[in-house]
Amino acid sequence: MTNLGVLVSGNGTNLQAIIDAIEGGLLDSKVKVVISNNPGAFAIERAKRHNIPTEIVSNKTFPAKEDYDRRLVEILKEHSVDLVILAGFMRILTHVLINAFPMRIMNIHPALLPAFPGLNVQKKALEHGVKFSGATVHFVDEGIDTGPIIIQAVVPVYDDDTEEILSARILQEEHRIYPQAVKLFAEGRLEVKGSRAIIKDSPTTEGAMENPSVTMFKEMDECLSKSSKK
Ligand code: GRF
Repeated sequence: MTNLGVLVSGNGTNLQAIIDAIEGGLLDSKVKVVISNNPGAFAIERAKRHNIPTEIVSNKTFPAKEDYDRRLVEILKEHSVDLVILAGFMRILTHVLINAFPMRIMNIHPALLPAFPGLNVQKKALEHGVKFSGATVHFVDEGIDTGPIIIQAVVPVYDDDTEEILSARILQEEHRIYPQAVKLFAEGRLEVKGSRAIIKDSPTTEGAMENPSVTMFKEMDECLSKSSKK
């Protein structure tokens, strides 16, 4: 059984996805504590509904970032946490927390890293005109959204997407891959080698996705399929 400590600042839909996976018997883990810097976070309400202990650690009580993180480490250790889950936690972690849980902190980011690290990334993806975006679960190191990538999910980006529509499409995938990444950790199937996270016995998929689909360009498609038969 893997003990989880989840750090949140907002709505908590990813926290909910993890709780649902546990309650549905898909994930052999336990959320031991949910911690927020924001007393108004709806994520706290979600935790309470499932009788999960919660803690609010206000930014104001610990103005120095390291002291703040020291308090987080204390709480996480008190609850015997094995894996720390960042689920919409709007703070940058210091070495204090990162060194206390080396390669045992996960984050989810609403873009295909290493593209678009940082904030407002769905807007940036739209502005950039990318044809695909998605979500990334990764281990946390001292950089901003730079740690070893565990799972990614890809979604198409359409010309008439708004930031809200794209965010919702990505969020739906986040809820699928975050519990899956935690499950891989809980099963001992993740191994970090340098800057890569390797999944033991990872299934492989054939083929590729295109957006817009190449079948749209019928003539090209036909020409290519003939040439491959020569
Ligand atoms: C998600 O988009 C996640 O990728 C980002 O913050 C958002 C959190 O959403 N890190 P929620 O609080 O889990 O609903």
